[in-house]
Amino acid sequence: MPLLFKKDGKTIPPELDIPGANSTFEWINGQFWLHSDDPKEKPIGIEIDKILDRHLDFFRKSSVQKELFARAIGIKGAFKPRVVDLTAGLLGDSLLFLAAGCAVTAVERNPLVSFLIESSLKNADHPLLEKFSFQGGEASDFLKSRPENDVIFFDPMFEDANHKSSPKKEMRIFRNLLAGDSDAENVLSLALGAGIKRVVVKRPRLSRELLDLKPVRMEGKSTRYDIYFP
Ligand SMILES: C[S@@+](CC[C@H](N)C(=O)[O-])C[C@H]1O[C@@H](n2cnc3c(N)ncnc32)[C@H](O)[C@@H]1O
Repeated sequence: MPLLFKKDGKTIPPELDIPGANSTFEWINGQFWLHSDDPKEKPIGIEIDKILDRHLDFFRKSSVQKELFARAIGIKGAFKPRVVDLTAGLLGDSLLFLAAGCAVTAVERNPLVSFLIESSLKNADHPLLEKFSFQGGEASDFLKSRPENDVIFFDPMFEDANHKSSPKKEMRIFRNLLAGDSDAENVLSLALGAGIKRVVVKRPRLSRELLDLKPVRMEGKSTRYDIYFP
C-alpha cells in the first residue's frame, strides 16, 4: 500500500495512489516533497528558484564553457542550444542547462516524478523559467511531434555490469520507484531518427555505450557523455 501523506488540506491526486509504489509525499513550504524509505532521512523536493540562483551564482564566477556538460551539449560562445531533456527526473540537468542560457523542454514519464516536478514548478517564480517547458509522458511519444530543437539530451537509469550502485539518497528513491529504464536503447534509436543534429547520452563513466555506433565520448570523473551526430 502506498503511503500518501496529506497535510494542510493538500491531497495527492488519486491517480498517484499506485499500488506497490510505497511513496510518501509531504507538503512543505508550498510544494510537495517525496520521502525515501528511511524515516530518518529528509524528503526530497525540487527547489527550482534556489537551484537556479545557485547555478547562476556559480556561472558568474566560473565560465560555463569550462564545464564538460556545456561542451557536450554544444554551448559555444554566444551559441546556446535549445535542448530537449527526455529524462527530466529531479530536473538536475535541465536546470543546469537553463542556468547556462539554454532554452529547455523537459519530458518525464513517471507520474510520481511528474507530480513532484509540476508541484515544484507551481511554487517557482524564476525569470529563467520563461525559457522552460515541461511535458509529462513518454519520450517516444514526444519525439513523434518532431520537436524543433538543437540537442536531445538523454539520461536513462540504465544499468550494466560496470555501474556500481550509487549510495545517493535520490538515486535510491529513484531505483525503488522506477526499476530501471530497460527501453533506453529503443528510445535512443528513436531520438537518433528525430531529425535533430546532436543527441547526447549521459552515462556512468565506466558503463558500456547504449548502441554500437561509436559516439564521440567526453569523460569526467564519474560521468561520461556519449555524443551522436545522426
Ligand atoms: C536517471 S533519471 C534522470 C535524472 C535527471 N537527469 C536529473 O538530473 O535529475 C531518469 C528519469 O528519466 C525518466 N525516463 C526514463 N526513460 C524515459 C522515457 N522513455 N520517457 C520519459 N521519461 C523517461 C525516468 O522516469 C526517470 O525519472
